[in-house]
Amino acid sequence: MNEKSSIADPNLAPEGLRKIEWVSTRMPVLNRLFDRFNVKGTFRGATVAVSVHLEAKTAYLCLILKKLGADVWATGSNPFSTKDDVAAGLAAQGVKVFARHGVSEQTHREELCALLASRPQVVLDDGADICLALHDHPDLGTRVKGISEETTTGRLRLKDLDAKGKLLYAAVTVNDAKSKHLFDNRYGTGQSTWTAITHLTNMTVAGKTVVVLGYGWVGRGVAHIAQGLGAHVVVTEVDPWKALEADMDGYAVMPIAAAATCGEIFITATGLEGILKLEHMKAMPDGALIGNAGHSDREIEVEELRRVATRAREVRENVFEYTLQNGRKICLLADGRIVNIAGGLGHPVEIMDMSFSLQLASLHWLLESPAMKPGVHNVPEQIDELVAREKLAADGISID
Ligand code: NAI
Repeated sequence: MNEKSSIADPNLAPEGLRKIEWVSTRMPVLNRLFDRFNVKGTFRGATVAVSVHLEAKTAYLCLILKKLGADVWATGSNPFSTKDDVAAGLAAQGVKVFARHGVSEQTHREELCALLASRPQVVLDDGADICLALHDHPDLGTRVKGISEETTTGRLRLKDLDAKGKLLYAAVTVNDAKSKHLFDNRYGTGQSTWTAITHLTNMTVAGKTVVVLGYGWVGRGVAHIAQGLGAHVVVTEVDPWKALEADMDGYAVMPIAAAATCGEIFITATGLEGILKLEHMKAMPDGALIGNAGHSDREIEVEELRRVATRAREVRENVFEYTLQNGRKICLLADGRIVNIAGGLGHPVEIMDMSFSLQLASLHWLLESPAMKPGVHNVPEQIDELVAREKLAADGISID
């Protein structure tokens, strides 16, 4: 296959490569796995399709795959998190890239289909978009040995397909590995969400009342860092155990209807749709900030907000202020898209080093395994442990 890349501007490549170089020396676990897998040669000649938030860290993973001898085809998992300079850098290194920042959903679907033309043998997915596209075009999936899925939302989609008996492929859910969700979802999203929000707004977090909707791994991280920054943290939940855990972790717990009236910054973290509703926004104090850390762009009812607003204006880059009929203003961060990525730099490098090491090792395992039955599989325990031990070793930490 000699398909040409489709990117915004090849002239951006030097800046993209500079960003990739920065992360390359800060991902020691991935570099150690490269040495290990390079000896084995399993990736040589394999076709790998990748759909992830396309920025420097994911680009480095693509380059590692390329250096291991794979034919790598990449797109973004959300057009608003795609960094055009990084996409250009990656294309300059011989990866086939179909990704441009900010394109429509329709164009993004076309980019996914362009990727499928590679007839991949293994797939690295984030949100199960490639997997679903493969189900629409099963003729392009006949060589697929397996899919490695990154995130909680993708895992839910795969499990749903599997439960209906419709999943056509073996899929590994990297999110379920301890080396992923204990660190990436919690510490990674926690830190990068607040880095993004403080950068987008130039405001303090200390002293503010922060409402975190959902106390799963992501919610725990967002709440933990907010507390560390000096916020008063309120948690909303539907799961009684998670609600109790939030209470015992020292946060106020209440229903969203009550939290809406007292919060100043609201962060959704459930991964579901329609969680922060218009009725809640109408109850919020003037100037409330709202943002989303979950995978879905529809966790906040953005369309409803736009529909009723009497005025809308971009008050800072990536911050929209909507005036409601009651005269109060609501500031929406990064259009309600995944704020730490669409409005920031994404997870810190060291966190993604672990997540992507799991991805690399899972793809390696899928390629080496005899044909696996369709269904959802956990990352094998030995891979999870390998990543944790390599991380300890890279950080110079010994344990008993
Ligand atoms: P999780 O399943 O551990 O947590 C979700 C929580 O939301 C659960 O505790 C659930 O009880 C709660 N919840 C459900 N409905 C609710 C409602 N109506 N009100 C309040 N709480 C409710 O999932 P996890 O791992 O925390 O992931 C959440 C989302 O974040 C997913 O979409 C995931 O894909 C995404 N994610 C985002 C990252 C980022 O970089 N921003 C990184 C990792 C995951």
